[in-house]
Amino acid sequence: MPVVGAQTRQEAAGEPGLGAGPTAAALLLTRRQFTAGSIAVATAAASGLSIHGVGHGVGCQPPDRPSTDATNADATLRLIVNGASVELGIDLRSSLLDVLREQLQLTGAKKGCDHGQCGACTVHVDGRRVASCLTLAVQADGREITTIEGLSPEDGPLHPMQQAFIDHDALQCGYCTPGQIMAAVACVREGNTGSVDQIREYMSGNLCRCGAYPGIVAAILQAAPEMEGT
Ligand code: FES
Ligand code: FES
Repeated sequence: MPVVGAQTRQEAAGEPGLGAGPTAAALLLTRRQFTAGSIAVATAAASGLSIHGVGHGVGCQPPDRPSTDATNADATLRLIVNGASVELGIDLRSSLLDVLREQLQLTGAKKGCDHGQCGACTVHVDGRRVASCLTLAVQADGREITTIEGLSPEDGPLHPMQQAFIDHDALQCGYCTPGQIMAAVACVREGNTGSVDQIREYMSGNLCRCGAYPGIVAAILQAAPEMEGT
């Protein structure tokens, strides 16, 4: 059974998902180059220098990224991920999101902003929702991680929240959906579904650029009573 919310519709169709893959990386680099070049030009204009004299700004390199190569590991991480024990070598600088996506190939959690502002990377650590892009992987050592892939059994029924998102068409592009569902499950378990306003407040850390908010709230209202006792 497909994992609801684990893939964007583009990814499901075999097309590259947003925010992932070489196209996005190339775009990011181009933006950096553009920004650096713009600053260089502005500096040159302000100081009266020739553009040729400050052109090195255009070629500046992106910052070093944490390695996902186990042979370069400088720490051993032990996790229980979706019920399975895993042990792997990590770069100490790695975020939990990068370890899940790049080393464990659990790409349901999405990298939207990588700055804790969008909620696309939401997973559960010991049952509590966290922005995995802001969580160092070493902070999760020995803990239990649940991602969208582990929310319902592979061969079993969907989780009530996944089904509710389908029932209320609570997505458009689907990019935010894994994070929305994980946050919504936590929101119910926290007891923060007493009213529409309360749901909106406690889901406000998860942004949806498609504006699927009415459907998301309706889905949570449907799933909340079905989740009692889970
Ligand atoms: Fe983590 Fe946006 S990717 S909050
Ligand atoms: Fe597109 Fe939420 S469904 S960002």
